[in-house]
Amino acid sequence: MKQAKFLVIGGAGYIGSHLVKALLAQQQQVIIVDNLSAGKASAILGGELITHDFEDRAFLDQLFKQHHFAGVFHFASQIVVSESVKNPGKYYRANTSATLTLLEALRDHQHIPLVFSSTAAVYGEPLYTPINEQHPTNAVNPYGRSKLMVEQMLADFANAHAQKYIALRYFNAAGADPLARIGEQHEPETHLIPLVLQAITGKRPPLQIFGEDYDTPDGTCIRDYIHVDDLASAHVLAMHHLINGGESGIFNLGNGLGYSVNDVIQTAIAVTGQDVPRSYVARRAGDPARLVADANLAKKVLGWQPKFSDLSIIIEHAWAWEKAQK
Ligand code: UFG
Repeated sequence: MKQAKFLVIGGAGYIGSHLVKALLAQQQQVIIVDNLSAGKASAILGGELITHDFEDRAFLDQLFKQHHFAGVFHFASQIVVSESVKNPGKYYRANTSATLTLLEALRDHQHIPLVFSSTAAVYGEPLYTPINEQHPTNAVNPYGRSKLMVEQMLADFANAHAQKYIALRYFNAAGADPLARIGEQHEPETHLIPLVLQAITGKRPPLQIFGEDYDTPDGTCIRDYIHVDDLASAHVLAMHHLINGGESGIFNLGNGLGYSVNDVIQTAIAVTGQDVPRSYVARRAGDPARLVADANLAKKVLGWQPKFSDLSIIIEHAWAWEKAQK
């Protein structure tokens, strides 16, 4: 991509910080806006951090007057599905309403492309797998709906104001920087791989496996784990596509490979050489049995090719990061 200045909202978070790393590797200029409510300043490997709420319209007006950006990446969001059920207002405010403010600011100041973090949660309970982008969107929780509404707003702003966008529907983001400089650090942590690894180190209690009676070969849920650096490279390609006059659109990001919870545990045992303290408990509400992406569209249109599709490598990188935290 040609050298330019990019805005990364939520760039101090898990996925955003890996995108910042990818932009810096291309010698791009990067401005990060993050309120550090979940992100960490230490996750930013370069660029300029502005610690502020992005939904502040006066702040955005000032920012867009001050800088000319070639594009915006927007990662900032609330991501815990169970919390979204208990406190939907928090999700519609932080994920939907705040993004509307951003879209209006873009409309009024800079007609620049936007790459947005969407989610496989927009599909809800899958009708078939692998899931392609034509699969009906039937989000089953406020988290998924808060993101789906943004996708709808993006299409409407594209239509009315020629706002160019790409929404990327992530499946299960996992792994860490291969050099272990940055990695997953959620609090609370709800994601399987860090919980498995932290059960091994004793940082967290034994893993609870949510359900062993799903209609899958070993009875545990199947997911499509995608390396965070592969997500980052897809964002760079998506922006490149838009800057070069490509069409707006929506793309799945996953490996197209399904691994069960037990596959993840067995791989973690092989990678670390240690057992995973664990027990089976009841199903967690709202977990589909099987979520696997058909990401061929991103490969075809964006030229995306995941580099770390092997689960062992994803877990090796997450483990190196975990050990670096001690
Ligand atoms: N799991 C356990 N025990 C745990 C944590 C998870 O058994 O302690 C299981 C879950 O039941 C699920 C699998 O591990 O079967 C993966 O769970 P994660 O919480 O890591 O990920 P999810 O698939 O639930 O969620 C991910 C994203 C969400 C997104 C969702 C749907 O993290 O943001 O996919 O796209 F909404």
